[in-house]
Amino acid sequence: MEYGYFDDRCREYVITNPRTPVKWINYVGTLGFGGLVDHTGGALICAGDPALNRITRYLALLPASEFKGQTLYLRIHKGGGYRVFSPFFVPTLDPYDRFECHVGLGYMRIVSELYGLRTDVTLFVPPGEPRLLQDIRITNIARQPVQVDAVPVVEYTHPDALKQITNADWVPQTMQSKAYAEAHGLLVVAQYPFMLRDVRINYFTSNRPVSSFETDRRRFLGDNEYGTWACPLGLQAAELSSYEALRGDNIAALLHHLGTLAPGEARRLVTQLGQAPSLDAARAGIAAYRDEARVDQALAELAASWERYLSCLQAETPDPAMDRMLNIHNPRQCHTTFHWSRYLSLYQTGYGERGIGFRDSAQDVMGVVASLPEEARRLLQQLLGVQSASGAAMHQFNPLTMEASVGDAAERPDLPQYYSDDHLWIVLAVCAYLKETGDLAFLDQVVPYHERGRDGRPLAIGSVRHHLEAAVEFTRGDVGAHGLPLLGFADWNDTVNLRAGAESLFTAHLYGRALLELADLLRHLGDAGAASKYLAWHDEMKARVNACAWDGAWYVRYFDADGTPLGSRTNAQGQIYANAQSWAVLSGFATPERARLAMDSLYERLNTPCGIKLSTPGFNGFDPARGGITTYPPGAKENGGIFLHANPWAIIAEALLGNGDRAYAYYCQVNPAAKNDRIDTFECEPYVYPQNILGDEHPQFGLARNSWLTGTASWAYQAATQYILGLQPTYAGLRIDPCLPAAWDGFRVRRQFRGAVYEIEVANPQHISYGVVRMRVDGHPVQGNVVPAFGDGAAHHVEVTMGHPA
Ligand code: GLC
Repeated sequence: MEYGYFDDRCREYVITNPRTPVKWINYVGTLGFGGLVDHTGGALICAGDPALNRITRYLALLPASEFKGQTLYLRIHKGGGYRVFSPFFVPTLDPYDRFECHVGLGYMRIVSELYGLRTDVTLFVPPGEPRLLQDIRITNIARQPVQVDAVPVVEYTHPDALKQITNADWVPQTMQSKAYAEAHGLLVVAQYPFMLRDVRINYFTSNRPVSSFETDRRRFLGDNEYGTWACPLGLQAAELSSYEALRGDNIAALLHHLGTLAPGEARRLVTQLGQAPSLDAARAGIAAYRDEARVDQALAELAASWERYLSCLQAETPDPAMDRMLNIHNPRQCHTTFHWSRYLSLYQTGYGERGIGFRDSAQDVMGVVASLPEEARRLLQQLLGVQSASGAAMHQFNPLTMEASVGDAAERPDLPQYYSDDHLWIVLAVCAYLKETGDLAFLDQVVPYHERGRDGRPLAIGSVRHHLEAAVEFTRGDVGAHGLPLLGFADWNDTVNLRAGAESLFTAHLYGRALLELADLLRHLGDAGAASKYLAWHDEMKARVNACAWDGAWYVRYFDADGTPLGSRTNAQGQIYANAQSWAVLSGFATPERARLAMDSLYERLNTPCGIKLSTPGFNGFDPARGGITTYPPGAKENGGIFLHANPWAIIAEALLGNGDRAYAYYCQVNPAAKNDRIDTFECEPYVYPQNILGDEHPQFGLARNSWLTGTASWAYQAATQYILGLQPTYAGLRIDPCLPAAWDGFRVRRQFRGAVYEIEVANPQHISYGVVRMRVDGHPVQGNVVPAFGDGAAHHVEVTMGHPA
């Protein structure tokens, strides 16, 4: 069963059957103002923070058929009565003649045909604007004239999203709406919780005369709410009650009489849902966006901003599903994770327990350093600001208040209250930013550490370089019985929570990788002494890892406090973990033979046609001594599931070892764009990576969940562009070092890098996987495989020939 198709020319995925197995969504705007819009027009909108300033009441846990946050009703006048339906399908579920939801770059466009009306609605947030627009066009495609009313509706939540759920007296007592009539029948309905009346209001308005409105949900649905969203009784009367709610469940429904449309005739209606300090402050913006030409211009600006964003890298490979991801959907998902971290999706519902994840965002930054360098730098600074002076880091923080916490560790006060990996990711992220941009001045920027005195002032500050050094120093000093890094509450794998004293091989490897990055940076800065110090630390950890963590055919993953290995053939469950193998390669710790053996073990024990499992066999029953991993049945999530985030690391490891065929096979098997014909098993959107897929120990093997907000986005993009296609930013320039499936003849990429454009053409005449024998830049032969950063704003032609050296 297919639910839609890719339209690569329009850079869209088009859903043609709204009954998708789970809701499919898209993102509009940014964390500053925006949110998610599902494929039936439901919208979860917030400003600055989904926990503390949420606007619409979208309850992801309701069935897909329910009204969520907002919808549009149309009303056809019929023999004294009305036919009421939603062109979004939900919540009225009328039989449609045509349904298309165009999942575009920063917009959703829903086109449907029902009862002789074609409705074409584009929902988007103009770049940088605090408003969601709905550009609605209604056309009579029947042979008879038709009299039509349009009633867009939003339902508000209390801005404190959790309070809305937990306090059903205080919240409704505070919620208020007020209508402001304007010239020409226009109307703005303002809404606020009482305490914010004078500082922050939401508003809903349109660019056509409103004959009546409703602000109280109970009146709109009718019959003490035994009227439903599928059939609101309020829409059976000629007019809404125009009642200004002083309490209760606040909505804004605006009734527009569009008049009689002759066959072929169309009407356009633009709505705005926005937020402002006051209505007066909002008036100019409201007036501007009532102008349809301004709306067209805003949509064009949105398209231009995405064009700029995507133009950073465009590839043409022999694989259309790969091109589709690399040129459109994967960078779009990187944009999304960069803006939303793990804060707001249908799965990570933004009620505040999460916020911005330190390690999550550090990895997200790595997916956008080329396309959003300034924003990346700002987020890096913010992250460095929640690093402790000790070098470790807080696990997450709230973007509005900057209040930081230790995350889930707080639930287990008996365990260490820090994650052993968090702070190390920032080293990788900052170095990725520096290699991309060459902005070495960033290293000298002074950023406060997290700790504050009673007066709120930072207790310690340090340059960015100092922060990075503090990070590796923390880990060097925080080791256990084998000299390996202590696990803390957890490492990258949130769910293995062992008694204090346990050691983590993942953190050891991440530390190793961070040391290599630092050494490379310091060498470039001319500080050979510091570089060799870090390389010596690398050797030291490498020796410890190889002395104690080799299990015969793979590396172990942890040692518990008693020194028992986990991820060893001696274990009944969790005998082998993917990350312990891939990261042994990424860290440079694995010797060449062990690297090959470890990656072959991963292939034999962990690979499935749907992706690489995180570990195997799954734990089968709760074991508090192992932690969260044992709360899942075998095959789910971290317990033997296919945790997609870890798949690109195996791709990178295989590429580093020169195995282009396997790297590419690993890439293809998790490419969502290649699953469009397997949706009944996969269920999630085929245009984004999900976080997890059930593994083969689970009866629902192949089922995906937690789409959108996952580190998979950034790492899949890095794996494909930097390791398979091999375009690696370095301090000296752009290194081109592909690791391809041998069958490929080559590929082309247009890549912007430090202010110049490189038209790169790679030829693979001998059908090998790696090795560059010749490179020409603008027709001139170049030594080696690093293209210098010309920074001249011009386009340069780079011809690369792969081959074995003579
Ligand atoms: C989730 C978390 C991430 C963690 C991973 C593995 O994706 O967001 O921080 O590393 O799970 O447990």
